[in-house]
Amino acid sequence: MNIGMTLTKFLLEEQRRLPGSKGNFTALFSDLVVAAKIISREVNRAGLIDILGAAGSKNVHGEEVQKLDEYANTTIIKTMEHGGHLSGMASEEMDEIIKVDPKYPRGKYLLLFDPLDGSSNIDVNISVGTIFSILRCNPECELTEKEFLKAGAEQVCAGYILYSSSTMFVYTTGHGVHGFTLDPNVGEFLLSHENIRIPDRGKIYSVNEGNSRHWLPGTSLYIEKLKNDEKNYTARYVGSLVADFHRNLLKGGVFLYPADKKSVSGKLRLLYEANPLAFIVEQAGGKASTGDKRILDIVPEKLHQRVPLIIGSKSDVEEAESFWKYQDA
Ligand code: AHG
Ligand code: MN
Ligand code: MN
Repeated sequence: MNIGMTLTKFLLEEQRRLPGSKGNFTALFSDLVVAAKIISREVNRAGLIDILGAAGSKNVHGEEVQKLDEYANTTIIKTMEHGGHLSGMASEEMDEIIKVDPKYPRGKYLLLFDPLDGSSNIDVNISVGTIFSILRCNPECELTEKEFLKAGAEQVCAGYILYSSSTMFVYTTGHGVHGFTLDPNVGEFLLSHENIRIPDRGKIYSVNEGNSRHWLPGTSLYIEKLKNDEKNYTARYVGSLVADFHRNLLKGGVFLYPADKKSVSGKLRLLYEANPLAFIVEQAGGKASTGDKRILDIVPEKLHQRVPLIIGSKSDVEEAESFWKYQDA
């Protein structure tokens, strides 16, 4: 048993094992852990202080911005910008890329994030999360949006923080997936889930069935198949991707947000949601697909690009893919 194995200590040991690592990444992570703790504290007392409710503006996707979205967004930017590890950031809540202020040193990484995923659930005390992705970049380059438009396969790290009955930090650097639970008394994320593996097949499917009248034929046929499957699939849908994903990662299952007649490219964002979770699921032995191609192979064309997503247990995702030939029927 790994008593007292904190996230930063674990990462340091992991980095030490990698030849040529200078530990820059470890320092970047400790800033991220600080941001996670601050957001967690704020989420946990959301009902106590007058922070609930909409901020009265819309984000780049035309959605209502919640106050806690703004808070999480600003916390991450402010906590990360002066560490000297980043050259820039991109956030789901910001139209443009964020260049690190020239008064701070520039680093060799880019941070992309969804500051608060599942934000429509904040007002009703349901789990939300932060999702992040880290890419390498040349600190000498002139930073433009183009530097962020890399296929997910090029991520050097990805993770999420789930603010739920406990706060959990789950990440991968391409050497397995590890989970840490925040001990509020100690104030540290402690190793609780080492080397997470997703079951090859699950019994859970997660999809917004309210969209079924817009579905393409392959999606309808696949969901109908699951309902009639003798394995007795059960439906679970929180409406916070990070919470739905986390449950399926631990228990097995499949999450879908497919393209449909209303949302022709799906709803979720490639750079802030699909890519980081795809990296994690593959590292845990699962799969992430659009229905006909691997998420991590997509070369993004724009920062806020949406993508259809099928993610979870490998055999479940492959079964869903086998129905995608009917999508055009
Ligand atoms: P965000 O709160 O970051 O905008 O993300 C919302 C997402 C995701 O968390 C969830 O899986 C999905 O929206 C739910 O969408 P529907 O309400 O359309 O099912
Ligand atoms: Mn989101
Ligand atoms: Mn969000």
